[in-house]
Amino acid sequence: MESLKILQIGDIHYPEKKDEVIGDIKDKSAPNSLINATTVHRIQRIIREIHRTTENSTISGIMICGDLTSYGDINGYNECIDYLNNSLEICDDRKWPDDSLHIVPGNHDIDHNNCDPDDKDLFKKFQPLVESWQVHGRDSIITTKSLRSSVVNKNNHTINIFSLNSCIGSGEKRHLPKKIRDQFESILTSYSKSASSTDSFELIYEQLDTPTVHNDHVIELVNGIKAIGIKSLPIVLAHHNVLPQTIPRWEIYTELVNSGQFRSSLASCLRPIIYCHGHIHDDSIEELIDHHNISSKIIFISAPLLTDGFNVLEVQFARNEIPLGCIVHKYRLNNKGQLSYENTIRIPLVSNDMMPEFRDEYISSLIKACNSGEERFQILRDSIGMDIGTRPNISTLEKVLLEAEWLNLIKITDRSCSSKHWKIRRVQP
Ligand SMILES: [Fe+2]
Repeated sequence: MESLKILQIGDIHYPEKKDEVIGDIKDKSAPNSLINATTVHRIQRIIREIHRTTENSTISGIMICGDLTSYGDINGYNECIDYLNNSLEICDDRKWPDDSLHIVPGNHDIDHNNCDPDDKDLFKKFQPLVESWQVHGRDSIITTKSLRSSVVNKNNHTINIFSLNSCIGSGEKRHLPKKIRDQFESILTSYSKSASSTDSFELIYEQLDTPTVHNDHVIELVNGIKAIGIKSLPIVLAHHNVLPQTIPRWEIYTELVNSGQFRSSLASCLRPIIYCHGHIHDDSIEELIDHHNISSKIIFISAPLLTDGFNVLEVQFARNEIPLGCIVHKYRLNNKGQLSYENTIRIPLVSNDMMPEFRDEYISSLIKACNSGEERFQILRDSIGMDIGTRPNISTLEKVLLEAEWLNLIKITDRSCSSKHWKIRRVQP
């Protein structure tokens, strides 16, 4: 079955997470070289796996969800770009053309000192990030001032990736009433004199973080999604989650301020959309259907911290080149230092009103042949052959069956085995 694979990398937080190992290191005086030789280094282990995945399977694009660093540390941000370039050649445009790469800012990438003091230019604070990528010759792949979109295509199978900046409110100052502003400023100023820069950041910067997306970008995004045909799948990338995270969070302005407006705008596109994000350091996969826009379906896929793993999104296409479903391959590092590869989630993308697009003689004949109970692959092949006058070749029947499974018409047992071992059962009358 034809497919396109996109790599989703979550928050990196370099260099804070750079030296994390899997080990119970009680003796802080043990030689580092000895500790390194006997423990699994989290980020190295994951990056090695990403490298193996990008070399061995055909990855057509990479999405990086932001938070390359922590607390607006631009040196850490630069170091992270160097690390990604050394390990994955992310700055090599022959290996990764512009259209295949999308990177968005995270709230931790922003130094609040770079916010415009006159409250006029919301994008001024992103300039150092753009300059960091500029030094590496790749400022074209970071999304800041405007919506970015690109088309990823392989053998006439297409994904449209849109990325937008959900951090335009991050780092901005709250304008407190004048009568308490001066007192508040003097308290914060005196605190920052006695506290470390990290403590000051945590008190002042984190609490005033305000995730939000720009109205103009949302309008452009909706128009862009509505303009693409049904043979492409829109994938949206931003740093912040649209739905609240699954565990309670007590913090000021913790959720995307205009998330309701944003998600109802996405629902108005009346088609399946995949929304990828980071920020929550978790790996939830959730779906939203707006029953006033019944063809809508938004699937939210969160990538975990890079030190915990990464996702590969595999979009599978029907014979008519329409996207059928998305398989999320979850590569996760466990506490024993082992990576698991087989934890996959299957997300169907076809809504009921699109079903007529897939009804051809093979699908109709398959439904007739699967009357009751389980059928073997070869028996079905014979039955369909008798019905339509030509026995389908093995490869065609495999595609038809996998397609029918995505359409929830049949269920295949032992799908990972060779097709001659498949058992097929009809699931809908
Ligand atoms: Fe983060």
